[in-house]
Amino acid sequence: LNMRISGDWFVALLCLLGVEVLCDCTVQNMQINGGTYKLTKNLTKGSMLVYSCPEGHYPYPTLTRVCQPNGFWRPAPKRFLEQTCKPIECPDPYALENGNIFPPQERFYVGNQTTYKCFTGFMMRGSSSRICLPNGKWSGLTPICSRDFESVCSDPGIPPGASRIGNWFGNNSRVKYTCNENMFLVGSSERVCQENGWWTAQEPACYFKYTYDTPLDVAQAFGKQIVNTISVTESLDEPQDGRKIIISRNWALNIYIAVDISESMGNESIVNARHAVKTLIKKMARFGVSSNYEIVLFSSQVYEVANIQDFYDGREDLRKIIHDWETFETSGKTFNTNLNLVFQTFEERMSFLKQQAGIEGFKKHRHVLILFSDGAFNVGGLPLPAIARIKDMVYMSDEFREEYLDIFVFGVGDDIFDDDLQRLTVGTGGQHYFRMKNLSGLEEAFDRFIDENEVGELCGLYQESDATQDKASSLRRYPWVAFTLPKGMRCLGSLVSPDFVLTGAACLFSLEPKDVVVEIDDGSHKKKVRKFTIHPNFNPRAKEREGVPQFYDYDVALIRLEESVQISASTRPICIPCTQGTSDALKLVGKSTCKQQEELLLNKHLERLSFLTKHPPLVAEKIAFAKLGECRDSCIQKVLNMSQITAKDPKVAVTDNFLCTGGWNKHRDHITCAGDGGGAVFKTYQHRTIQIGVVSWGTHNLCHYPHSLVESSAESRDFHINLFKMVPFLKSILGDDTQEYLSLQFLEE
Ligand SMILES: *[C@@H]1O[C@H](CO)[C@@H](O)[C@H](O)[C@H]1NC(C)=O
Ligand SMILES: *[C@@H]1O[C@H](CO)[C@@H](O)[C@H](O)[C@H]1NC(C)=O
Ligand SMILES: *[C@@H]1O[C@H](CO)[C@@H](O)[C@H](O)[C@H]1NC(C)=O
Ligand SMILES: *[C@@H]1O[C@H](CO)[C@@H](O)[C@H](O)[C@H]1NC(C)=O
Ligand SMILES: *[C@@H]1O[C@H](CO)[C@@H](O)[C@H](O)[C@H]1NC(C)=O
Ligand SMILES: *[C@@H]1O[C@H](CO)[C@@H](O)[C@H](O)[C@H]1NC(C)=O
Repeated sequence: LNMRISGDWFVALLCLLGVEVLCDCTVQNMQINGGTYKLTKNLTKGSMLVYSCPEGHYPYPTLTRVCQPNGFWRPAPKRFLEQTCKPIECPDPYALENGNIFPPQERFYVGNQTTYKCFTGFMMRGSSSRICLPNGKWSGLTPICSRDFESVCSDPGIPPGASRIGNWFGNNSRVKYTCNENMFLVGSSERVCQENGWWTAQEPACYFKYTYDTPLDVAQAFGKQIVNTISVTESLDEPQDGRKIIISRNWALNIYIAVDISESMGNESIVNARHAVKTLIKKMARFGVSSNYEIVLFSSQVYEVANIQDFYDGREDLRKIIHDWETFETSGKTFNTNLNLVFQTFEERMSFLKQQAGIEGFKKHRHVLILFSDGAFNVGGLPLPAIARIKDMVYMSDEFREEYLDIFVFGVGDDIFDDDLQRLTVGTGGQHYFRMKNLSGLEEAFDRFIDENEVGELCGLYQESDATQDKASSLRRYPWVAFTLPKGMRCLGSLVSPDFVLTGAACLFSLEPKDVVVEIDDGSHKKKVRKFTIHPNFNPRAKEREGVPQFYDYDVALIRLEESVQISASTRPICIPCTQGTSDALKLVGKSTCKQQEELLLNKHLERLSFLTKHPPLVAEKIAFAKLGECRDSCIQKVLNMSQITAKDPKVAVTDNFLCTGGWNKHRDHITCAGDGGGAVFKTYQHRTIQIGVVSWGTHNLCHYPHSLVESSAESRDFHINLFKMVPFLKSILGDDTQEYLSLQFLEE
């Protein structure tokens, strides 16, 4: 043996022989043609080399390599297959049957557009034109050319990149899908035609290793299912379309969330997953169903941030959980990945719940498990047995209980173990497996796209968007805002149901419906007024003789719109007092009363309230403190300083039906301006908006157009109609269920 072998050679030789010494990998031959790479841990063992390419391209033949303890990369670079950036292709659209594709092309790259035409006698469903997107998917929906013949189910089509076995669409027929070479199937490979004409599951898709779901794709698909989960179908005849969503109050929703914090996930994805989960929890809190959470971070161990048992024992504190969730320190806890332990933990919690609730009680529990991981587990094995036990526990041998359990998996990273992760998904309905390179943008997408269009007429929901940014954001923040425009005047109002706007009586006094338009942004802008009703007790001249020339008591009116508005994220009613909707928003369980609501909303001597003013880009929020209890008298006293008023008792002008704001206190209030009248005085409570009053009148005009965000002086006061005092009027119209419009459910007392 030549004893003069140099040190480096000696180590390399030992490495070659597989002797356990730590060997660094080298960057030799690691370059990529047309792209770059980065290393997660330099050239040490376990470091991942991640290739990146310009948009519209992907690294070929491999996306990543990992440095092995012996100093070699896996997979190893191939001598005759240069690592290079290739243009991204979309899956083969020629899966289409009974139609043509233009332009005819062999391969379809990012930006390429295709149009589809069915043969004569065949009818087109889906998108007739699609574009190949940078994430490797086609825009729009799979086109389907089918003949309208008598079969139980309609032709389910063939997604691009797939082939289908099965051409019968009768009762109980099965179709099976497989993906072309180099692709894998996401979703259910088999669908069965049901008696009712619907296929089981959803259309599957074929993904390349470089195909990703965008945050928008994910939020829409996932959000829809989450909303369906918290809802129950009213009409079971039409299980997919035309489903009307109502929130059932008598069952429990258990949500189990696990975020992988192991090294291979990458810091950024962990942070983004935590933000996205936070947003999800906040969203759920607003739906009016209370959910119970088990929330964990995991690597080789499971770190529990929220224990679901605490929710059942009433010991939970969502605010604290969110705080803990955001601040939980992960450093030093990121080694190894034990997916099995996560599911075992969930199984344990679940079986404890079952024990406590009993069989019958547990039947009312729905379970949603959500996992964020790259799937690179290295200890504990695949958690399939634990998942099988969880299924047994929930299904209870009843095939109709499938909808009580969903497992959603978010595969995250540059190198996702798709095969393993997909096998963990459980659930009927839509997509349960999502695939993302990173999670940037997911939080925002969750905030914007989960819920609101789907949750029927729930009052007071809004999105936490920055209202000063642009008009669209402002509308999502105040989706109930209405501008009532009586001839020659400007007022505000609030949408209180799809058919009614609440505003001030003074805005409409001595006008006719044709003199008034209402602006609400639901696509068609200016709304015609069918009818309006002013409070029957409103009479500005009623106290003339008592020294109050303009008397504004009962300054409320309801405007019935010519046509109902379309409910959406930017058009949605506000909650009003003494309705069941408000009790739900306030999370009052069981039979609740008006008084309970009032105590929650107007319980302090100084109650912080808001109202709106027209202000670019749409409206601005003003803050004022209602002076209640012993603070009220000194607040309304100032009305006597108005030169027009000669009455000696302030209560002649300011009856008990008014809330009083303004003046200087600890806080400086905003003051109302011309044009704010008729608008909602509201409060935000647990992410829902509840209207408490209507802006009516004030003692001083301190506003100088166009500046409307003006603060009160020591002397100025505003008076707002207290809606808790107007309930009989509201109920007589909005609660009238003999009419053809959607009525609101008012509390009995
Ligand atoms: C990688 O190597 C560079 C230069 O040797 C060093 O500055 C850096 O801290 C290393 N990074 C990691 C993650 O080890
Ligand atoms: C398809 O996309 C490729 C790559 O962007 C482009 O070179 C080609 O011209 C496109 N073909 C058509 C028909 O647009
Ligand atoms: C459809 O198939 C199911 C299952 O085989 C069967 O029970 C049902 O009677 C069939 N319905 C019709 C209308 O044939
Ligand atoms: C990731 O976070 C850990 C702990 O939070 C830290 O030690 C490490 O330096 C971070 N790595 C990168 C690449 O930021
Ligand atoms: C996250 O992935 C998207 C594409 O999926 C990419 O455009 C974006 O730059 C990535 N962000 C980060 C921080 O890597
Ligand atoms: C009325 O208000 C004015 C200032 O706005 C003040 O100077 C005056 O003292 C007030 N009068 C009473 C009776 O409060």
